[in-house]
Amino acid sequence: MSQTVPPASAPSPAPPMSALALLGRLLTARGRNRADLCYEFMGTRNCPSTDCTYLNLGYWRGTTEYPKAAEAMVDLLAESAGIAPGDVVVDAGCGFGDQDLRMARTRDPAKIHGINVTALQVEHARRHNADPRIEYHVCSATALPFGAGSIDKVVSLEAAFHFDTRETFLREAFRVLKPGGRLAVIDLVPVEQAGRLNTGGLKGALERWASQTPGANVYGVTRYGEILRAIGFAGCSLRSIAEDVTVPYVKFMHRLLADPKEAGRFHPMIRRAMSHPNNPFAASDYILVTAAKPAGK
Ligand SMILES: C[S@@+](CC[C@H](N)C(=O)[O-])C[C@H]1O[C@@H](n2cnc3c(N)ncnc32)[C@H](O)[C@@H]1O
Repeated sequence: MSQTVPPASAPSPAPPMSALALLGRLLTARGRNRADLCYEFMGTRNCPSTDCTYLNLGYWRGTTEYPKAAEAMVDLLAESAGIAPGDVVVDAGCGFGDQDLRMARTRDPAKIHGINVTALQVEHARRHNADPRIEYHVCSATALPFGAGSIDKVVSLEAAFHFDTRETFLREAFRVLKPGGRLAVIDLVPVEQAGRLNTGGLKGALERWASQTPGANVYGVTRYGEILRAIGFAGCSLRSIAEDVTVPYVKFMHRLLADPKEAGRFHPMIRRAMSHPNNPFAASDYILVTAAKPAGK
């Protein structure tokens, strides 16, 4: 009997895990990072649009439509990494894989390895975002299954803040990159003003626990740059793109959730957080990080 595969845009009929089950499993995870549980919990029905399964906040310059903003974010990442025809690319934290298909179509790399700890998302990516140039792996960005000096570009979109730890991932990226290879990461960090971090107080700590963001990753752009340089990266650039991301995204979510038909598919916890008049990303900076492994290393 043939199996009916739902179209990529179709949200799953129900969240695969209840909020109570998520809480129970997070509490018994005993300090281990279980970001995969959070994404299992979200399934596909909590994605910002039913036309795609992107989870990134979108790069909104010149658009008010989420799918276009999400694609523009991927294009910004691919452009910043300098992905070129024939490249071998690692995408760490690839979500449902829409971004890999976009990069395969727009940049024509020889291979993209999409890495993700959430098996449910990888299964979806294999079914809906398949391309002979893309291979999806269920594994952690902190232990990349590739040899030293074998990869041209390493990218990561809105995922590295979860990695346990981000620094371990950056070391892995440096190891697998060829000399002259490039890294591009779009990431969230606490806002840093005059050398002081805004970590969002108790609310921030609870949010980081709920999203399984390790405490070791709570630093701003200054420390981020120091870590990259200590690993050996050169030409490091860290710049905020928050103005074109977080504020327009929150406005978009407020508009979306004002429509009862759209609001109905979101989990009540996510609906509540995203329809609150306060910007939930107020204490977060949204940054684009680029760096290169020096030739000859
Ligand atoms: C906010 S989502 C972003 C997904 C995708 N990049 C996008 O923008 O649509 C974060 C992703 O990181 C993945 N993730 C979390 N920890 C990970 C780890 N240690 N290694 C690989 N992926 C991880 C999650 O499963 C999830 O897919």
